[in-house]
Amino acid sequence: MRKNTHLDETLCVIPPETPLEGFASLAVPVYRGSTVVFPDAASYRSRAARAPDGYTYGLSGTPTTRTLERQLSAVHNAERAIIVPSGQAAISAAMLSVVKNGDHLLVTDNVYPPAKHFTRKILGDLGVETEFFDPTQLTDLEARLRPGRTRLVWIESPGSTTMEICDIPAISRLCKAKGALLGCDNTWATGLLCKPLDLGVDIVAEALTKYVGGHSDILLGVVIFRNMDLYQRTRLTLSSLGVGVSPDECSLALRGMQTMSLRLRHVGELSEEFAHRLTQSWSYPVLHPCLPRFPNHSIWQRDFKGSSGVFSLQVDGVSSETVDRALDGLKTFAIGASWGGTRSLVAPMVIANDRDVMPSSASTTYLRISIGLENIDHLWADLEGLLNTLQRQ
Ligand SMILES: Cc1ncc(COP(=O)(O)O)c(C=O)c1O
Repeated sequence: MRKNTHLDETLCVIPPETPLEGFASLAVPVYRGSTVVFPDAASYRSRAARAPDGYTYGLSGTPTTRTLERQLSAVHNAERAIIVPSGQAAISAAMLSVVKNGDHLLVTDNVYPPAKHFTRKILGDLGVETEFFDPTQLTDLEARLRPGRTRLVWIESPGSTTMEICDIPAISRLCKAKGALLGCDNTWATGLLCKPLDLGVDIVAEALTKYVGGHSDILLGVVIFRNMDLYQRTRLTLSSLGVGVSPDECSLALRGMQTMSLRLRHVGELSEEFAHRLTQSWSYPVLHPCLPRFPNHSIWQRDFKGSSGVFSLQVDGVSSETVDRALDGLKTFAIGASWGGTRSLVAPMVIANDRDVMPSSASTTYLRISIGLENIDHLWADLEGLLNTLQRQ
């Protein structure tokens, strides 16, 4: 007959309480948890009163998630932030929480292409009409804004790959005058280099996958708010969709935050240095807002504290075979999508099919460059080799 092991069984499930007092660790603990328990029945019954910030169930956050949310919120001078599973999820959650059937949505033509796909396909099927506009032409936005119908204007500055800079305060003024909310993808700058809420934006999305994570090993995003109503609506949208994040990923993002300012300063200085050097020897445009001749350079200087490490080279009319040969010769840069990690990357982009209103040619390739932390001379030697092959075609 089995001996009675009842006491041990219970001990296996309920360990003795361990005091936390005195454990003043610098690292933020990883709190994993789905179920949250309550001290008594009355607290459980009234748990809804804990919303939106209190803990009721792991899906809406643990202390690890909340620490990251509060840190990003503070960096952005924001009211609240919500961590989501990716940058794309941040964009779609922000849009989905704001627009409804019958609304009109205006989006800059140069946003991250999957964001465009989301507006066309998913929001389109839900009865939201999306129109794209030229990010550098305020008159284009003004002409397309429909008072009472345009619920949201969405921008990304600098724009994906082609790097156009928006005049965010001017766009915000236009939106306010016509009763539209303004949302912004701020992934390139992070809250260290640009604080869109301070420039008049209502809702910010960022991919933490890039500079916050910083090591190419997590996928995470954040939606940031200056208004409690939008925050509450987005929390409701996400909990209704069943979207939550892993505290382990948040822990890696919290670690990335510790070194982000140093990493950004370094890659920003290098990207500016390389952009200036490249303009000396490259006959096509170098697309980096730090360059004095880059369109809206003065607006960038006014609104941004500096550069991050991503910029592009425009390569007109060079055959795809030559572009591939040039990329295959790279020794230090890796070829790959995403960016913001320690490893420098180059990604060839042909964006003609992603543009709706801005002119673009199918024979133009853009090389999107993300500067990492390798030796500057090795990186420059690679870029020189790349240019030599492209120019020798
Ligand atoms: C500007 C921008 N926003 C958002 C995203 C999406 O981020 P994630 O890969 O975390 O979904 C990306 C990804 O490349 C991006 O470049």
